[in-house]
Amino acid sequence: MLITELLPRLEVRLPERGKLDPASLFDTAPRAVWLEIGFGGGEHLAAQAEAHRDLGLIGCEVFENGVARLLGQIARRRLSNIRLFTDDGRRLVEALTAASVERVFILFPDPWPKQRHHKRRILSTGTLDALARIMAEGAELWLATDDGGYFAWMVERVTNHPEFVWLARRPADWRQPPAGWLPTRYEEKAVAAGRVPFYLRARRRGGGAG
Ligand SMILES: C[S@@+](CC[C@H](N)C(=O)[O-])C[C@H]1O[C@@H](n2cnc3c(N)ncnc32)[C@H](O)[C@@H]1O
Repeated sequence: MLITELLPRLEVRLPERGKLDPASLFDTAPRAVWLEIGFGGGEHLAAQAEAHRDLGLIGCEVFENGVARLLGQIARRRLSNIRLFTDDGRRLVEALTAASVERVFILFPDPWPKQRHHKRRILSTGTLDALARIMAEGAELWLATDDGGYFAWMVERVTNHPEFVWLARRPADWRQPPAGWLPTRYEEKAVAAGRVPFYLRARRRGGGAG
């Protein structure tokens, strides 16, 4: 019922031509739009939506069971500020208007640890180029992983990208979650299994400091 009735009301459809202003997807104009790519079961997205009811949140997930789980939370918690894209999040990013998003989360993306699979990693210079276009000046990109190799890969790509500045000042900044962090399901399982998460916060250059 949620899939057949609620999903069509919340699902983002890409325009056949032109770009999509993400703020226009919400019933009332949001204070800002935040985007999460690969939300899994949607626990983090739902918690952010509940904590910030004046924001508009868009979640992307290709895993059907995850979409169903998030729909359940939206219904149970009466969240009116979430919209869903059920395909590759990079397609949505390509379709959005420039400088329209204030925060992007890519949390515990599939690590693809084998060298020959690295090209499948969602965090790439091409993805950063696309995100830089849709992120407003000063907007933040929040990344996390429990794979040390992927963390090093993320740091390298973010610090080499001309449009982003890594906000870490000391090791605690990548060993501990940033202020305002809400845990993800994957993260809770990883910590329970004794794995160590790494956190990366970057700012889209321009505007304020950095
Ligand atoms: C390891 S899970 C982490 C889920 C969640 N972020 C968490 O921390 O609990 C990664 C998720 O990203 C999704 N995913 C991978 N590539 C994606 C893409 N291009 N667009 C949207 N979702 C994607 C997968 O289906 C999977 O559910």
